[in-house]
Amino acid sequence: MTRVLVSAEVEPFLARRMVPDGVGVDLLGPAEPIPAGGPHLGILPLLTRRIGGPEMDRLPALRVVANMAVGYDNVDLDAARERGIRVTNTPDVLTGATAELTWALILAVARRVGEGERLVRPGVWTGWSPTQLLGSSLSGKTLGLLGAGRIGREVGRRAGAFGMSVAYWGRTARPEWEAECGARRVADPTELARLSDVLSIHLASTADTRGLVDGPLLDAMKPGAILVNTARGDIVDEPALVERLVAGRLRAGLDVYAREPAVPEALLGLENVMLLPHLGSGTLETRQAMFDLAWDNMLRVAAGDDPLTPVV
Ligand code: DGY
Repeated sequence: MTRVLVSAEVEPFLARRMVPDGVGVDLLGPAEPIPAGGPHLGILPLLTRRIGGPEMDRLPALRVVANMAVGYDNVDLDAARERGIRVTNTPDVLTGATAELTWALILAVARRVGEGERLVRPGVWTGWSPTQLLGSSLSGKTLGLLGAGRIGREVGRRAGAFGMSVAYWGRTARPEWEAECGARRVADPTELARLSDVLSIHLASTADTRGLVDGPLLDAMKPGAILVNTARGDIVDEPALVERLVAGRLRAGLDVYAREPAVPEALLGLENVMLLPHLGSGTLETRQAMFDLAWDNMLRVAAGDDPLTPVV
């Protein structure tokens, strides 16, 4: 019998899949430690669980960490390599959903959707007024994409629908996509910050990108420009961003935070920021597809085959 460990929170997605004969599944609760000495060949963790060397060592038979996320900053890749353990992620299947949520944030911040709802719900709205909650139009403005991987490019593809032009910074030039959506590549993140009306982050969290969006880069942004982050919170110097939001210099739409689920206290009372609870991939269809891909990756490696979407 091949035993695998699956995060208990994804049981509803597991219930829609057949567990092959000869495979036994053990569920791992969110606060439960990985069972020391467990016989498991595979583990399917969420991005909220750290899988470093010590966690890997608890499972002597471990062959694969099938992360149910496109990001894998919760997994120590070097530790996996040293131990000959495969690591997989879930690219592609969440690209559209995350791009949609990015646009939800862009639109909500530009048009003050959260503030409007906060006016209506307590019953204090007194009626239409020509100067009430005036936002800013997107049409004719520039969307800056910090990173033009799968999700960044998908966000860029939707910009034309709102009459926005697209600029981007990324290590890799994307000529075909540039032609598709009229995007232009700029030399560095600061130049992108300078010219963007909306700056949206689509980078992985790595040693190179952590803290990349720092005070000087935020200061390069136009006054009143919108910063959107649906990638990882630690790419932004969070205290520096909070300072500029409190001062009213910028606006922001945030789906991710540096130390989730902690959200900086100072942000909670601000009207110029929309705060979401890491919902980027949060559609029923997408989460099932993420589970399916992680599950297939795990079972393939456990059976001695190559994973579909390897990281290591
Ligand atoms: C991921 O897959 O990395 C996302 O952050 C999940 O929403």
